[in-house]
Amino acid sequence: MHIDIITVLPELLESPFNHSIMKRAQEKGLLTVQTYNLRKWAINKHMQIDDYQFGGGAGMVMMCEPLANAIDELQQGRKYDEIIYLTPDGKTFNQKTANHLSLFNNLLLICGHYKGIDERIREQYVTMEISIGDYVLSGGELAAAIVVDAIGRLLPGVLSDETSALFDSFQDNLLAPPVYTRPADFRGKKVPEILLQGDPKKVEEWRHEQSLLRTKTRRPDLLDEE
Ligand code: ADE
Repeated sequence: MHIDIITVLPELLESPFNHSIMKRAQEKGLLTVQTYNLRKWAINKHMQIDDYQFGGGAGMVMMCEPLANAIDELQQGRKYDEIIYLTPDGKTFNQKTANHLSLFNNLLLICGHYKGIDERIREQYVTMEISIGDYVLSGGELAAAIVVDAIGRLLPGVLSDETSALFDSFQDNLLAPPVYTRPADFRGKKVPEILLQGDPKKVEEWRHEQSLLRTKTRRPDLLDEE
């Protein structure tokens, strides 16, 4: 999979993809992430990419021209499956959307700043709008990093134990069961006996029960989703 990201702060996106699983995904050639500084398409020598909003009010708006020129140029080299704008008024991101996006080959992510991007870019270019939650960040970069991470780890071959993503919280609309490691007795608190008995079938049943219990008590809303 290839992901292009248009941003005014490419520096913010340097670290998230250069460690651990995302780094390995890129080293294995399963994922490539390329950031583009929107100022490359600025409208003048002052590197302008934003302007005051029509109708008045505080806050700048990212202009049509730099974004349209950036997207047009990138589209010449690649056909995107989705052009995604990260915005608090988008559809809330979840595992289902991550699964869906992980099946594509080419994605373009647009990070907003200030008051956001001119509505006409949303109408003309953007095919999907994603929010990572009901709160406002100072820009879309951290949201983009989260979306790329959630998608990247699902790509076949990225996780060393390929099946492990299947047992994450939210796959099957269930939260993951509790996990334990050594010691079996920590300050008198013992690991559930069933995990020590070496019966894989019983362990699997116990984990499923725990998943259900945890979902019922913490996130009952998930059990109503299709
Ligand atoms: N940009 C600012 N806040 C955001 C959010 N919650 N999700 C996605 N992009 C954003």
